[in-house]
Amino acid sequence: IGNHITHLEQCASTQIVAHKLAQEGAADGTVVIAELQTEGRGRLMRKWDSAHGKGIWMSVILRPDVPPHQAPQFTLVAAVAVVRAIQQVTGLEPMIKWPNDILFGAKKATGILTELQSDADGIQALIIGIGVNVNQQLDDFDASVQDIATSLSLESGTIVNRRELAQEILRCLERYTDMYIEHGFSPLKQLWEAHSATIGKAVRARMSKETLEGIAEGITEDGVLQLRTADGKLHGIYSADIELK
Ligand code: BTN
Repeated sequence: IGNHITHLEQCASTQIVAHKLAQEGAADGTVVIAELQTEGRGRLMRKWDSAHGKGIWMSVILRPDVPPHQAPQFTLVAAVAVVRAIQQVTGLEPMIKWPNDILFGAKKATGILTELQSDADGIQALIIGIGVNVNQQLDDFDASVQDIATSLSLESGTIVNRRELAQEILRCLERYTDMYIEHGFSPLKQLWEAHSATIGKAVRARMSKETLEGIAEGITEDGVLQLRTADGKLHGIYSADIELK
């Protein structure tokens, strides 16, 4: 990962650039990084605030030989990789909120967005978008997100070297995706759960059609969140907004 890096001063979204490169045949492990995104995008069609030169805005193209239903696991693998890299470079201890928000307390410092290019033959490419708030100070954030967003700099009280962190994220991403491909999800599931802010907690899961409340008991081998409601039923959550209660 990272043998081919496209470093842009500015683009709409590194996801868009990476999708295009992937369609044109870019190799497994190709990376797109931008200093500024004018239309950074998040999960569930949200916009992602991507201030100039303050964060790591990057997309990684992977071409794993796995069936499409395993794509969500890569998102969890990426979350573990980013948490380990942040620990390594800053000494901070971030937590993961299912599926892949990286938090300090209730505030979000990193988001991961995995998109898929697939056809009848299976996965053509996975585009893993990673956005890390690194050196923003409070007024660098849009007023609308100031009380839900944070940066590594705000958490550590220092300026963090973005280049060093980006390199460590790519190293960890390679280490953990290799581990996943060699040993399957079990060792990664343990790592993910060890950093989880969700497991064992009372949560509210907002889905498109309903909202469920209960205890998050764990994740399955497929990365599906297991939620136990008060009536004792166990629900598999595939996609939702999770609120810790
Ligand atoms: C989320 O938490 O909603 C996911 C946010 C993902 C943001 C990153 S920044 C790099 C890449 N390019 C984008 O437009 N989005 C992802």
